[in-house]
Amino acid sequence: MKCLIAYCTRYGVTRETSNVIAETLKSNFDAEVDIIDLKEEKKRAKSVNPNDYDIVIVGSSIRIGRWTKEAKNFLKSDFKNTHVAIFVSSGRCGQAIEDDDMEEYDKYEQKYIDRIAEKQGLKLFAKRGFGGRMERGGEVQSDTWNRDHIVEWTVEVGKKIEEEMPSA
Ligand SMILES: Cc1cc2nc3c(=O)[nH]c(=O)nc-3n(C[C@H](O)[C@H](O)[C@H](O)COP(=O)(O)O)c2cc1C
Repeated sequence: MKCLIAYCTRYGVTRETSNVIAETLKSNFDAEVDIIDLKEEKKRAKSVNPNDYDIVIVGSSIRIGRWTKEAKNFLKSDFKNTHVAIFVSSGRCGQAIEDDDMEEYDKYEQKYIDRIAEKQGLKLFAKRGFGGRMERGGEVQSDTWNRDHIVEWTVEVGKKIEEEMPSA
């Protein structure tokens, strides 16, 4: 199973999430995983071919309802011969999950993931809005990041890859 995780973070949480996804894919599925920080590794991001991977997982930070520019641009890549999954780090999604308010969660998943995927004509293999963390003056204001939720989702995705792509 060959996986690419391409992410962009503003405050660091999307990097943490990407690392948990990578660890989980490696340890549970013996996957080969490449990770690209789209802001810090611009050259690599340009030269990578998503179609060399069984699945590409794109992650973005959400701030004032918006994706990061680099992750949004990466979604314009050619994904014809691969599968695409999207996750976002979102205070709104994280809070809705903590409140067990799935209606609210779905609203933000639609806003932050479905809309952007539709715009790029992408049919997603998987998607998830994970929580985030907000700090001000070095003090944590809110923290809805949950490692277990990330591991759980990644295991689901890995199993789905094994089922739907037995040769992967
Ligand atoms: C100025 C600011 C604006 C934010 N706006 C939103 C928002 O509109 N919706 C949301 O779900 N989360 C919002 N958040 C929470 C972020 O999604 C959260 O901090 C997340 O960890 C960001 O990902 P990153 O750490 O990878 O940059 C905001 C955070 C900050 C600091």
